[in-house]
Amino acid sequence: MRVVCLAGDGIGPEVMEQAVRALRELPLSLELEELPFGGSGIRETGDPLPPDTLAACRTADAVLLAAVGSPEFERTVVRPEQGLLRLRQELGIFANLRPVRTEEVDVLIVRELSAGLYYGQKGRRPDGTAFDTCEYHPDQIDRIARRAFELAGQRRRAVTVADKYGVLETSALWREVVDAVSSGYPDIALDYMLVDNAAMQLVRDPGRFDVLLTENTFGDILSDVAAVATGGVGLAASAGLSETGPGIFEPIHGSAPDIAGRGIANPAAMIRSAALMLGLGLGQASEARLLDDAVDAALEQATTADRGGSATTGEFGDAVVAFLQSQPVRAA
Ligand code: NAD
Ligand code: IPM
Ligand code: MN
Repeated sequence: MRVVCLAGDGIGPEVMEQAVRALRELPLSLELEELPFGGSGIRETGDPLPPDTLAACRTADAVLLAAVGSPEFERTVVRPEQGLLRLRQELGIFANLRPVRTEEVDVLIVRELSAGLYYGQKGRRPDGTAFDTCEYHPDQIDRIARRAFELAGQRRRAVTVADKYGVLETSALWREVVDAVSSGYPDIALDYMLVDNAAMQLVRDPGRFDVLLTENTFGDILSDVAAVATGGVGLAASAGLSETGPGIFEPIHGSAPDIAGRGIANPAAMIRSAALMLGLGLGQASEARLLDDAVDAALEQATTADRGGSATTGEFGDAVVAFLQSQPVRAA
């Protein structure tokens, strides 16, 4: 199994290092290839998604990605984030699963990742106006809605759609298409909630949600809200899936320039992303569970600064590795 590792910028390489350490403890033959991407891609080749990196991702079994973005490129024409959006598009990634869990809460945010404001027409008009357009084709809504209902069927059988109905035409289309999809899943409860209320409910009562389905931009914002309501962005992982090709597995957090280079970032989200990769990307369910258990154990032993402690990134990684080494030896 070949995995392309894109460490990216800021804390990206720091958290990626711990994920790679953990993966190397597992009795799997994984070939891990690290390639430039984001700011490091721009510095090396002028392109945040260098052609060799893209080519390697296309033929990989999965892509493990840390984070991109750097203050150095905040106002430049070529920016690291463009590499991420292009990579998702080139690999046909449309479903972004963002699970957030605690003992009482288990929400799966299903974020549409291929359309909406991110990929609609954008530009400037001669009078100085800037515009971004939010567009959805019914097929783009249909495929993500089906994915959400299928996933709900393996969980608590409830889908909530967050939208801005009454204001946005795209939300009206989302409701038409989701209603139609829902008729094929009579045993799954469906409700709609306005996105501003959804943000509030995620803070007030996150336990009320099972699967939270939403479009690209709303999903971006709601997942950071949900992450904070359940332990912080340092814990939240994601899986970006296409119809058939390799997935992209990445934490929901960014490159955290405010703490980069200090060795204090929480690598839990990154290592959980590696676990999602094992389970959903490489079909290694038991290794995925083991790695998740290792993160749970490390969270008990090593508290990083974001959770009020003083453990370093490396110490958290040590705890993960110690847990994995304490497990009985299993056959490869
Ligand atoms: P951010 O998620 O990088 O950081 C927000 C806050 O959370 C910061 O205070 C940061 O220190 C903290 N934080 C984030 N991850 C953490 C971790 N693992 N451990 C401890 N603390 C952590 O968001 P931002 O500051 O708005 O964005 C910084 C850059 O990252 C921007 O360039 C943005 O575009 C980029 N970004 C990239 C991705 C990605 O590559 N998938 C995701 C989000 C943001
Ligand atoms: C995320 C990030 C990205 C997004 C940025 C860096 C383009 O915030 O993965 O949540 O908005 O999708
Ligand atoms: Mn985000």
